[in-house]
Amino acid sequence: MSVHAVFVAPYFGASMTHCLRVMAALPDLKLGIVTCVPEAHVPKGVRLSGHYRIDNPMDPGQLTVAVRAFQKEWGRVDRLIGYLEQLQESLAAAREALGIPGIHRQVAHNFRDKNQMKKVLHQAGVPVAKQSLVRSVEDALAFLDTCGMIVLKPLDGMGSKNTIRVSTKDELFRALNILMPSPSRPVQAEEFVTGDEHTLEAMSINGEVVWHSSSYYLPGPLQVIENPWMQYCVLLPRERIEPHVESFLPTNAQALKALGLRTGMSHMEWFHRKDNSVRIGEVGARPPGVNIMRLNGLVHGVDFWAKWAELEVHHRFEMPERKLAAGCAFLRGKGRGRTVASVTGLDEALAKVGNAVVEGKRPKVGQPRSSHYEGEGWVIVQHESTQGVLNAMKEIITRTEIQYK
Ligand SMILES: Nc1ncnc2c1ncn2[C@@H]1O[C@H](COP(=O)(O)OP(=O)(O)O)[C@@H](O)[C@H]1O
Ligand SMILES: [Mg+2]
Repeated sequence: MSVHAVFVAPYFGASMTHCLRVMAALPDLKLGIVTCVPEAHVPKGVRLSGHYRIDNPMDPGQLTVAVRAFQKEWGRVDRLIGYLEQLQESLAAAREALGIPGIHRQVAHNFRDKNQMKKVLHQAGVPVAKQSLVRSVEDALAFLDTCGMIVLKPLDGMGSKNTIRVSTKDELFRALNILMPSPSRPVQAEEFVTGDEHTLEAMSINGEVVWHSSSYYLPGPLQVIENPWMQYCVLLPRERIEPHVESFLPTNAQALKALGLRTGMSHMEWFHRKDNSVRIGEVGARPPGVNIMRLNGLVHGVDFWAKWAELEVHHRFEMPERKLAAGCAFLRGKGRGRTVASVTGLDEALAKVGNAVVEGKRPKVGQPRSSHYEGEGWVIVQHESTQGVLNAMKEIITRTEIQYK
């Protein structure tokens, strides 16, 4: 019997378009979309059984009305799918209202609210940073006093936006001016955790992790945000299960169980500390950014988005062995300006790295400075060995220089 699925795709950027195409190509599937764009702007050549336009996908009421229309027309809807982080709670509310299985409100809230997430994890005995909800300057001062160095961030933050490390009173007041905590809008505060930051991508079916992979942030996102000139890398090693990952797996499984994810993809960020202990940073019940999907596709010789879609639609996941290592170097500029003034060294770097280069986005002189930490451009490389990928990424980020003006 075919699965009836509705995919919430508000706007069609490159990833969303790709995702829709590979999902629509799955067998035994009747697929409809809920979107903000009129039918004329939906990607062409995609086999769809319905289109429902709404104007606010963050509104669970609008999602519910749209998906109910599919239920009426098709008799049933088995899956309500969407990967954008900010839609997770409205998707969950609509599933719950319509009796569609999958992530419901409580589980979505566990994943979306950083304080709730850490509370649930801590109660389950999973190691997380000490945390506090800051509603006032007194709260913030007391927590800083207890911890010495803290991180402040929005409760529903993403993309490291407004994530601020604080170790002095001065820095605290500066951060409070940006985050503006209040009793009705508290801010998340955490003790600063040191250690190497890794990801853990996991595919779960019926509460079991059936596949996982871990990548390295070189360095961690906070250091990247604090140093806007820093070019950085994400590394997916040749070995899928390195020793530090293997020993972390029970913690990952315990965390997903506590948060309530049964079927779907999760993207965790975790710290591996010098003394070998670990702390979970956060977990998203969705695919990762920073090209980790593409990197996983390369090293396994598959389209990873298609694998994700199959997991979501058919609750199936199979993966060939890993044959390569891969990585992504992110290119960022120096200076204070708002525009890319020059790009030098990139062509020499690419020539030096040769056929390890897979694809990239070339920074262009004159383009406005990116507001995203992914920077002005990126280069994806692959090699049979992890060291080969590290060498290639190093060539790229040390030879390429971007200046702003
Ligand atoms: N308690 C912490 N200790 C150390 N670094 C942290 C802490 N919380 C966040 N960070 C850093 O800030 C980054 C962004 O924080 P995170 O909680 O992942 O929020 P987001 O949802 O914006 O990604 C993390 O990847 C990590 O580098
Ligand atoms: Mg994060």
